[in-house]
Amino acid sequence: MVDTDKAFQTFETVKTLLEFGPNDEVELGKMTDLIERHGPKITDEFYSSLAKFPDTAKQVEGRVDALKATHRAWMRGLVGGDYGRGYFDSRWRIGLAHVRIGLDPFWVESVMSIIRSHMAVAIATESADAAEAGRRQAAFTKICDLDLLVINLSYGEDRLDRLTEFTGMKRNLIENIIRIPRKTS
Ligand code: HEM
Repeated sequence: MVDTDKAFQTFETVKTLLEFGPNDEVELGKMTDLIERHGPKITDEFYSSLAKFPDTAKQVEGRVDALKATHRAWMRGLVGGDYGRGYFDSRWRIGLAHVRIGLDPFWVESVMSIIRSHMAVAIATESADAAEAGRRQAAFTKICDLDLLVINLSYGEDRLDRLTEFTGMKRNLIENIIRIPRKTS
């Protein structure tokens, strides 16, 4: 049984590190209309990119419309205003959905850049001035990075689980081995 409390603590620590707080939440909250206007096009571009590579195309083939609907809901969640435990849990589940289909984590890591870069253009186009664009961009970058953090943590947790399960080694032992500092030559 995976203990997600530790990962949630990490999520909270990184929120503090990034100074993700009420100001960001306010900025994100103001972006709901922007997401409604630009989100669908960004989602379309996201899936067009996935269709270009055999490893990703085979995963989305035949269910692009359904996946686009979940993706649009995910984008709305980015500006949904609640970034607590429920938010963390939803991102953890998204991570595990990708773990389950055997998708290499680098795909998820890299396609987040598509979201960030397209949204950067949308934000720049729709903001009143550079200061507003900067605030919105900062908040949006942080929340995308936090999502990726949780997804990556879920991948890492699954890998530890697999090692524990398949080697029969104690989980603590595996974690300790990973933490042993390497000797420098
Ligand atoms: C920023 C990166 C990504 C985000 C935010 C994202 C978002 C989502 C969401 C919200 C779901 C629904 C999860 C659920 O059922 O609870 C999902 C499922 C899925 N995603 Fe992604 N996704 C990302 C990257 C990718 C990539 C790179 C692929 C490559 C093919 C992919 C393919 C899929 C597939 C096939 C499913 C369905 C999994 C299943 O069968 O349950 N996603 N994704």
